[in-house]
Formats: sequence, C-alpha cells, structure tokens
Amino acid sequence: MRGLKDKVAIITGAAGGIGKATALRFAAEGTYVVVADFADGSGTVAEVEQLGSKGLYVQVDVTNPDSVKAMVEKAKEVFGRVDVLINNAGITKDAMMKKMSKDAWDAVIGVNLTGVFNCTSAVLPIMLEQQSGVVLTTSSVVGIYGNLGQTNYAASKWGVIGMTKSWAKEMAKNGLRFNCVAPGFIATDMVKKIPEQVLKEKIIIKIPQGRLGEPEEIAAAFAFLASDDAKFINGTVLSVDGACTL
Ligand code: CAA
Ligand code: NAI
Repeated sequence: MRGLKDKVAIITGAAGGIGKATALRFAAEGTYVVVADFADGSGTVAEVEQLGSKGLYVQVDVTNPDSVKAMVEKAKEVFGRVDVLINNAGITKDAMMKKMSKDAWDAVIGVNLTGVFNCTSAVLPIMLEQQSGVVLTTSSVVGIYGNLGQTNYAASKWGVIGMTKSWAKEMAKNGLRFNCVAPGFIATDMVKKIPEQVLKEKIIIKIPQGRLGEPEEIAAAFAFLASDDAKFINGTVLSVDGACTL
C-alpha cells in the first residue's frame, strides 16, 4: 500500500484479535505502531519488531479521557507525530432486551462509543496541526442490521458510523480523512462467546461465503483505508463480511 511507510499509527485494542492482526499488517507496511490496550500488548510489540518496524505498548482504558490523553502524549513523545488512529477496542455484553441490565448498556456504550469519542478527541489537535491524518472506526454488520441479544452493541456500532460521517463533513477541508470498517463475524475471542449452537445454526449458515472471516482480512481493509491508495475515500463504510449482509 502506498504512503504507510515510516508513518505512526495508534491502534486501540491491539493486544489481540483484529487489533493485533492490524498492528502486524501495518508493521509489515513499515508503519510504526502504538499498541494501545487495557490488556498486555507487549507480545504484539515483539512481533511488530520482528517484522522490522518499531512498536510501543501503552496501557490505556479508552473509557477514561485522562488515560487516553496520556497514551496520545506518550505516542507523540516517542514518535513525534500521529498519522493514523484506528479505533478498534470493543466489547460485547449480550442479552435479550428484556434481560439487558443498565450496567451492560453503560459498559458497551462506554467502550465502543465514548471510547471512540475519547481517542479521536485526543489525536485531533495533533492531526489538525499537521493538516493530515486518518481516523478509522470499527462498526459491525450488527451496527447496520441489528442482531438478537445486542441492543447495546448495535446502538454503539451504528453510532460510530454517524460519528465517522460527521467528522468527515467537518474536517475533510483540514486534510483529514475518516472512514469506517464494518466487519462481519470474525474468528476472534469475541465470537467464541457466542453459544456454539447459535453460531452454527443461526449465524454461519447465513454467510454466503460459508465461513467466519479472519482478523487479517479486516486488517487489510484498515491498511487500504489508511493508505494513500484511498486518499479520495472519506466518510465511507466498508463492509468486510463474506456477503452476510445481502
Ligand atoms: N441469531 C439468531 N438467533 C439467535 C441469536 C442470533 N445471534 N442469538 C440467539 N438466538 C436464538 C437462539 O437460537 C434461541 O432460539 P430458539 O428459541 O429457537 O432455540 C433464542 O434466540 C433464544 O436464545 P437463548 O436460549 O440463547 O437465550 P438466552 O437468553 O439464554 O441468551 C443471548 C441470549 C445472550 C443473546 C445468547 O443467545 C447469545 O449470546 N446469542 C448470540 C448473540 C450474538 O450473535 N452475538 C454476537 C457476538 S460477536 C459480535 O458481536 C461481533 C460482531 O460485531 C459481529
Ligand atoms: P477482541 O475481544 O479479540 O479484542 C478486543 C481488544 O480490545 C482486547 O485486546 C481488549 O483488551 C481491548 N479492550 C477492551 N476494552 C478496552 C478498553 N476499555 N480500553 C482499551 N482496550 C480495550 O475483539 P475483536 O474481535 O478483535 O474486535 C475488535 C473490534 O472489532 C471491536 O470493536 C469489535 O466490536 C469489532 N468487531 C468484531 C467482530 C468479530 O466478529 N470479531 C465483528 C465486527 C466488529
């Protein structure tokens, strides 16, 4: 991909799953990667460095604006700039609506929606000063079409689409780009929490490609949208889902 070498990318939730695959994909493109996660991301950093790039693990809780601010300051201190932010950290707390607690609502909105607001707010002063930068968000097939047991998650993932489009309208004129990836069901720890029978009989059966996606397939979409190959793409949502939304 063009334009990713020697750039600096902050990837939230990069200790595992899609975030880790994305960190490794960007490292392979020559991007310096800030692995920003609540969980230990030192393993991801070691793999980033094995690929010949530079990595930095910063522990962060995306729900906490002070923690996020400190994370962005550390990234700027070590690498001098921030070119890409990938808002990838996310959680589920599934329950049918009639059983969904206010705590489950607050927790999911806190990470998946407010966390995206916090991280984007913290990098904007740097990107606006640079007059360049790319912010990517992570929605979901569930954000676009809804899902049983996911009122909180669907609301958060529809919300990030609205945020992303609003930011593109506000700040395209400043040289910034904002895009969203909407993955289908991807083989990570998040999907492992789905009851086996539901996954097999209600979900995989409806995916025309007949399988879960791989984290690397989402990483490729992030790399494309962050690269100069996508420099006229702004405010869009790219579905990567094996056609499960058709
Ligand atoms: N799609 C279709 N049907 C579903 C379903 C789903 N995702 N989830 C549950 N159902 C069905 C069940 O098969 C069951 O059907 P029957 O009555 O015909 O047997 C019915 O709904 C009730 O389900 P449960 O008996 O499991 O009800 P519960 O109250 O014990 O649990 C639940 C409810 C917590 C929602 C549980 O069913 C569950 O975890 N379902 C999976 C929800 C899901 O799809 N989560 C996606 C997580 S991955 C993710 O979010 C990433 C992403 O962006 C795609
Ligand atoms: P995962 O559960 O494997 O990884 C999520 C990462 O986010 C973890 O490393 C976790 O420690 C981190 N995290 C959680 N809360 C955090 C917080 N408060 N602060 C900092 N880090 C935090 O999940 P996965 O599957 O890799 O998901 C990544 C993103 O992709 C999420 O936003 C998810 O909603 C989205 N997504 C996932 C799909 C899937 O099927 N796996 C499908 C569609 C979207």
